[in-house]
Amino acid sequence: NFTPDTFVEDIVEELKTKIQNDKVVLGLSGGVDSTVAAVLLNKAIGQNLYCIFVNNGLLRKDEFESVLHQYKDMGLNVKGVDASERFLSELAGVEDPETKRKTIGRVFIEVFDDEAHLLTDVKWLAQGTIYPDVIESVSVKGPSATIKSHHNVGGLPDFMKLQVVEPLRMLFKDEVRRVGATLGIDPELLGRHPFPGPGLSIRILGDITPEKVRILQEVDHIFIQGLKDHGLYNQVWQAGAILLPVNSVGVMGDERTYEKVVALRAVESTDGMTADWVHLPYDFLMKVSNEIINKVKGVNRVVYDISSKPPATIEWE
Ligand code: XMP
Repeated sequence: NFTPDTFVEDIVEELKTKIQNDKVVLGLSGGVDSTVAAVLLNKAIGQNLYCIFVNNGLLRKDEFESVLHQYKDMGLNVKGVDASERFLSELAGVEDPETKRKTIGRVFIEVFDDEAHLLTDVKWLAQGTIYPDVIESVSVKGPSATIKSHHNVGGLPDFMKLQVVEPLRMLFKDEVRRVGATLGIDPELLGRHPFPGPGLSIRILGDITPEKVRILQEVDHIFIQGLKDHGLYNQVWQAGAILLPVNSVGVMGDERTYEKVVALRAVESTDGMTADWVHLPYDFLMKVSNEIINKVKGVNRVVYDISSKPPATIEWE
């Protein structure tokens, strides 16, 4: 029988004993796991925890700034590193989804390693690994797992030679959320939809340009904000928008337009392994579609994805 309060007391003591006065580095992703791990370590060792939050340029609209701000408000010793341009230039011209994932994983490791080198005398690498990550032998998920799957590529970056500390490695996701609540972390942050490590890159089908990222961020923002405003966000397990690599014809005034199509996706699921599309109210879809087409330059058509997993997947690539 899991009790978050007892867990927090025990793990904080354990971390203190284990780490003592050493320095620890941790990569924050904006997600629940790395945040809860950071807050626990902060409770145990305070400013000896050095958090690094990397902007890969593929986060949701304004997310880097707002989440960084939130981290600072939580008292975390965090450095925000805006590497957007580096990621986007390395991704230029890349169309293959696996190459996108590998490129993002590699650049993340390079950026993180550069940052870790700026710190002196770090002894530990902390990760927000949770129990399902531990039992999943090969995982493509999240920065921490990306780090693991790159173990044998061209020797280890220096930060990976550090001793590893994983305070959440015995917990399931719902237990992590309960620990987060006990620690007083903002319920909105704890209730966030899952978001893939490669971010919007795998929701821009085909090649990625800064302009496409901007369009998709705007569309995604209108959709997600709409879900929140209509009290639908918490009824959905994951939602997002996909920018399709086709143009479709439209009409504006007397003119014909030839612009981008976006797909909206919202699913119900428990673990992402299977998923059903959510029957969002038609009125809501109508409002969101109108708002997107009226406000986002470059988009003239919105479609809604009504495929379930299997045989479709949640992401489109
Ligand atoms: P699929 O598309 O496989 O997605 O049905 C299942 C869940 O996994 C997420 N996903 C990823 N997460 N890196 C991640 O961190 C990835 O490369 C990746 N691909 C898919 C997806 O968002 C969904 O929650």
